[in-house]
Amino acid sequence: LTGKEVVAMRTALVVHASRHGSTAGIADRIGEVLHGKGIQTAVASASSRPDPTGFDAVIIGSGIYLGRWLEDAIGFVERNRVTLVTKPVWLFSSGPLKGANMSKPGSDPLVDALGPEDGPGSGGHKQLTALATAVNARENHVFYGAYDPADPPQTVPERLLRIMPFSKGILPTGDYREWDVIEAWAGGIAAELLERVPAATLA
Ligand SMILES: Cc1cc2nc3c(=O)[nH]c(=O)nc-3n(C[C@H](O)[C@H](O)[C@H](O)COP(=O)(O)O)c2cc1C
Repeated sequence: LTGKEVVAMRTALVVHASRHGSTAGIADRIGEVLHGKGIQTAVASASSRPDPTGFDAVIIGSGIYLGRWLEDAIGFVERNRVTLVTKPVWLFSSGPLKGANMSKPGSDPLVDALGPEDGPGSGGHKQLTALATAVNARENHVFYGAYDPADPPQTVPERLLRIMPFSKGILPTGDYREWDVIEAWAGGIAAELLERVPAATLA
């Protein structure tokens, strides 16, 4: 050692489950923001089963389908719960499409995206809340998503929902991702991470 201060690089893992790419795009942008703040960041698909061990922080996001997180994202959290609970973890969802008739002004974004907290149709909301609690997540954030009907459906329920007469009301075409909001959220994570884990001095 030279006697100079050596600042340990902070590291973060951003994991996403994305059926049509919009959540992956949000994960990439979060990765870019963290990287820009000097945090060494890996972005990985949950289906590639990344290992969160060794990262200082983990950010996990999923697209929402029929009021639920995608299985790959749920599996990642469940499989790694014991590791994740020892680290700062942030969750995000990419879901609501602006103008969708399921969204009411002033309502809770988690309710808009996942359905009610209790009662009929609350399964996906309860499940995500339980995951957030299990890993002691700092935030459970919802971003607007994107929907492009030209991108072919990937599951049978998706195919069926799209051809329902009411589908135009719940699936407005467009990319509603708010990049400034996403960047601000990632900036907040960077700030918390850089403050929380003080730079180690090895010299
Ligand atoms: C079949 C289908 C069902 C959807 N269900 C929901 C839903 O229940 N709640 C919601 O907020 N968004 C819902 N969406 C919108 C998606 O969550 C949104 O398009 C998201 O950005 C998709 O992420 P991805 O591109 O990463 O797969 C649905 C979209 C489709 C195509």
